[in-house]
Amino acid sequence: MSVEYSVSPDGKKFTLPRPEEYKKEFNRIKKEVEKQRKLDREIVVVMGVGFVGVAMAAVIADTADKKGNPSKFVIGMQRPSLRSFWKIPVLNRGISPVVSEDKELEPMIRRCVLDKKTLMATYVYDVLCLADVVVVDIQCDYQKEALGNVRDGQADMSPLEESLGIMAEHISPDALILIETTVAPGTTEQIAYPIIKKAFSRRGIKSEPLLAHSFERVMPGKNYVASIRDFWRVCSGINRKAKDKVVKFLNEVINTKDYPLTVLDKPIESETAKIIENSYRATILAFLDEWSLFSERNGVDLLKVINAIKVRPTHSNIIFPGPGIGGYCLPKDGGLGVWAYKHIHGFEDDIFKVTPLAININDTRSLHVAQLVRDALRNMSRPIAAADVLVLGASYREDVGDTRYSGSELVVRRLTEMGAELRVHDPYLAHWWEFEKQDTYPQKGHSLARFFRNQEKLRNLKMETGLDKAFRGADAVIFAVRHKQYLDLDPDGVVKMIGNTAAIVDCFGILDDLKIRRYFELGCEVKGLGRGHVRRIKDEVRREEMKK
Ligand SMILES: NC(=O)c1ccc[n+]([C@@H]2O[C@H](COP(=O)([O-])OP(=O)(O)OC[C@H]3O[C@@H](n4cnc5c(N)ncnc54)[C@H](O)[C@@H]3O)[C@@H](O)[C@H]2O)c1
Repeated sequence: MSVEYSVSPDGKKFTLPRPEEYKKEFNRIKKEVEKQRKLDREIVVVMGVGFVGVAMAAVIADTADKKGNPSKFVIGMQRPSLRSFWKIPVLNRGISPVVSEDKELEPMIRRCVLDKKTLMATYVYDVLCLADVVVVDIQCDYQKEALGNVRDGQADMSPLEESLGIMAEHISPDALILIETTVAPGTTEQIAYPIIKKAFSRRGIKSEPLLAHSFERVMPGKNYVASIRDFWRVCSGINRKAKDKVVKFLNEVINTKDYPLTVLDKPIESETAKIIENSYRATILAFLDEWSLFSERNGVDLLKVINAIKVRPTHSNIIFPGPGIGGYCLPKDGGLGVWAYKHIHGFEDDIFKVTPLAININDTRSLHVAQLVRDALRNMSRPIAAADVLVLGASYREDVGDTRYSGSELVVRRLTEMGAELRVHDPYLAHWWEFEKQDTYPQKGHSLARFFRNQEKLRNLKMETGLDKAFRGADAVIFAVRHKQYLDLDPDGVVKMIGNTAAIVDCFGILDDLKIRRYFELGCEVKGLGRGHVRRIKDEVRREEMKK
């Protein structure tokens, strides 16, 4: 029999559990739970220890009662897939499976796993029968069939439906199921409830399932833990008892004293709140795409314009859109809403205009970066198809190692299609699985490679580990992410590391005017998303050179 491994991002191999190991694993956890019950601790199972689940599990495990004693015991339940099994042994060693800038996460996980012993992880679904509360943090994706057309796609409900089915077979009738997954509005009442109610009937359980919904607003990065624990929450329950239970639970585990809970009447309201919240954000980013092009073509520095507008308190959340709007949530959440209207609620008409348009604009914004690189190189008489291009930053936002739907991925794919040779540096990443495992990552058939030509060689794309080597001989450098390591790079040092002049493309307002000027003085070409004023700086520098 061949042995199957799950490989962690730092390359360690973990053997998948064999069928005979499941029973032993369950007995190990059951024994621990018996001990924990004697300590009067509530048993919480967190389903899915991904980005959200792992931090939520730690926050719950760190909960103390009024006397300061731990009041919850948390079991992180993770399916033993090739992609995710490694998270279980890693977590059980007291190590966070998520790399984050947050200084609180690692010590919190270590403390809860190794010292307080209030957190452990497992792969056996049977532990669900031990839970007082089940927190659902598994993914609900939206699969797009075309690039730049979110309507052409559907919600991928299968992992959620599958796990609800499993929960329904195992949980005690009194257990609260708290769905934190961002779902298509209507899911808790129209999908989760029937699945669990039917299973309860089969099991001879007469009582109503206790289902609740409360979405996460977690932000990976410096305030990762605080964005879960010290932040406002919205929740709702499917019936009175579920509502009371979810309010009690969240009051115990989250800092609701400083960040009061909002309790809505129905789960569909809480679910809709999440979708609108992220569609709103996607929309204010998307609408700046056209102004970004306007700025580039008319000598306007969008960065300065945005900073000028921001001072007005009513407009303080206007933000400069980088090279594509990535992350797990903004590209998909509006799609879940549009899909739900038709497929859960059965409406035929088409009421959605702004939300899908915003997502479509955001999904294709990064393609323009490739054009800027091409144009900058053309100005230097270097063809894109013969160019070595360095991308600085693979993550979707600054100071995290999260590459999901990052603008940089599409930049790499488009430039590869155009014939360029790509190299990538990101201080937070040793591997970029979207390329290295593009046949199976994020899932078979889901890679964005399917929207581009000539992507095969990207399987060999290795992350650069040192900046010196990454820069050496590059024809073009793309500042793609505002990682703090890139903000202070000075032009003289960069050109020295490159060993030549190069095309410098700023996607995120990283270069100030002095740096842009210096790059021109050093003989480089500079372009930037939304930064039309670079042309003016170039002309000034060239005029000064003529005078000399
Ligand atoms: N990542 C964010 O910043 C963020 C922010 C707010 C909300 N959310 C929402 O939170 C939810 C979870 O997101 P995430 O980023 O943690 O996703 P993720 O993919 O990192 O984690 C999901 C985890 O669930 C596991 N899983 C899947 N099916 C399972 C099953 N049947 N049993 C047990 N485990 C299973 C997966 O293996 C994975 O580890 C999503 O709905 C997302 O939209 C995410």
